[in-house]
Amino acid sequence: MTASHRRPLIAGNWKMNGSLKDAAELVQALAKDLGSVGHEVIVAPPFTALTVVGELLKKSPIKLAAQDMHWENAGAYTGEVSGAMLKDAGCHAVILGHSERRRLFGDTDATVQRKLKAALAHKLLPIVCIGETLEERESQRTFKVLETQVKGALTGFAPSDLSSAVIAYEPVWAIGTGKTATPEQAQEAHVFARRQVAALYGDGLAQGMRILYGGSVTPENVDSLMAQPDVDGALVGGASLKPIGFLRIIHYQAAVRS
Ligand code: PGA
Repeated sequence: MTASHRRPLIAGNWKMNGSLKDAAELVQALAKDLGSVGHEVIVAPPFTALTVVGELLKKSPIKLAAQDMHWENAGAYTGEVSGAMLKDAGCHAVILGHSERRRLFGDTDATVQRKLKAALAHKLLPIVCIGETLEERESQRTFKVLETQVKGALTGFAPSDLSSAVIAYEPVWAIGTGKTATPEQAQEAHVFARRQVAALYGDGLAQGMRILYGGSVTPENVDSLMAQPDVDGALVGGASLKPIGFLRIIHYQAAVRS
């Protein structure tokens, strides 16, 4: 199978930014100028803006995602939001295990796995984030970390459950730093992550699974990243908050991927 079998996905992670008015303006600008696009486009606003943004996207191919979720359906979990609630709010997808969640809010491979199970049960498209820190890269532990994260989150499913799952490789040292991985570093990590999926579930599933790159993706570097055969899309933070730049990222110009 070749990369052309995997439908590219460009996702914007708005993180904890913007008012409801900002969210509405941003998504209206995106929807208005999106034009024709063959691949999948997703935006992930903060929880409070989900329904407002979802309403504005009703007639647009842009889909709605949340930035996190809890694994239980309901109950005494103050501050949490469930997969059922996300579905109710119109979400199509959910980001899981973002490095900021892991680093600042205690997400672990085990909790990411529980969230993944719940996301799949609610038919939410899961975007599972993995990635090494600078220290891990510099001490040659990148592959070990990626292996642990892929196996930790993705073990224990029926292969058919994971057919929609997406991985986002986001080196922590590249997130919000302006230091993007080189296309070669991204490609190498993506091939490795895909191999870990293949070890768990076979090559067929692994070759069909989309692996996004995230970490300081910009209009300037998206083309060379997307030209890599195993880079199937981008998870974009800062640059997804500006409509003109994000539209340029959405309409990346990669050489024909094969
Ligand atoms: P960034 O964030 O594009 O601002 O580096 C990416 C992410 O955290 O998903």
